Amino acid sequence: MKLLVTAGPTREPIDAVRFITNASSGQMGYAVAAAGVATGMEVTLLTGPVALEAPEGCQVVPFVTVADLKAALDARFDACDALVMSAAVGDFAVQRPVAGKLHRTAGPLTLTLVPTDDLLGTLAACKRPGQRIVAFAVEEGPPDRAQAAARAKLATKGADLIVVNTSAAMSSQASEAAILSPSGVVLPWARRSKSELAGQIIRLLAPGPAR
Ligand code: CTP
Repeated sequence: MKLLVTAGPTREPIDAVRFITNASSGQMGYAVAAAGVATGMEVTLLTGPVALEAPEGCQVVPFVTVADLKAALDARFDACDALVMSAAVGDFAVQRPVAGKLHRTAGPLTLTLVPTDDLLGTLAACKRPGQRIVAFAVEEGPPDRAQAAARAKLATKGADLIVVNTSAAMSSQASEAAILSPSGVVLPWARRSKSELAGQIIRLLAPGPAR
């Protein structure tokens, strides 16, 4: 089984030396890649800039911007059996990045940010029968409210499963999370290590009796 996993943050340039990014550590995606390799899957890990060592046995493809990630996904999505979209894809990019370095002495600066493409939604719209997509959603508030928001996101994005967690998980080794499918809760809300959660995701994707 061919598994495509995305991990970590994207960066969008402001100028030649500055960028906007997010707090994703990449740990969740790396844990999914490691769990996939451990069960014999052929794993490709698309990774943003993170301070982690890639699990042995997977193919690693780096990305920086949302556009890089989109190109890497477009080149590989057709050939995979499942995509686990754990990357924290930036929702906004700077409309007009500056080629050189902006100088503080130039005074106040206003940045216009434009929404990025919905990579997962676009891929899900053209997935082939049998191909599966796992989305992630960071939602705030009590578990019931977070799960309701994630259920709505699962439907609009057209994913098969969605892992809902909170922003506290972003740079932590553990995650308060649940996994939902269109028919309901497939893994109840609880605090787990990211490697345990990754194992659960892989079990849900693995073909055969473990599914
Ligand atoms: N995602 C994506 N492309 C984007 C933003 C997010 O593919 N431009 C993916 C993420 O990797 C994740 C899922 O979509 O698997 C949900 O991400 P989230 O940021 O919660 O979704 P958004 O559609 O950006 O919704 P929101 O406005 O709540 O941030």
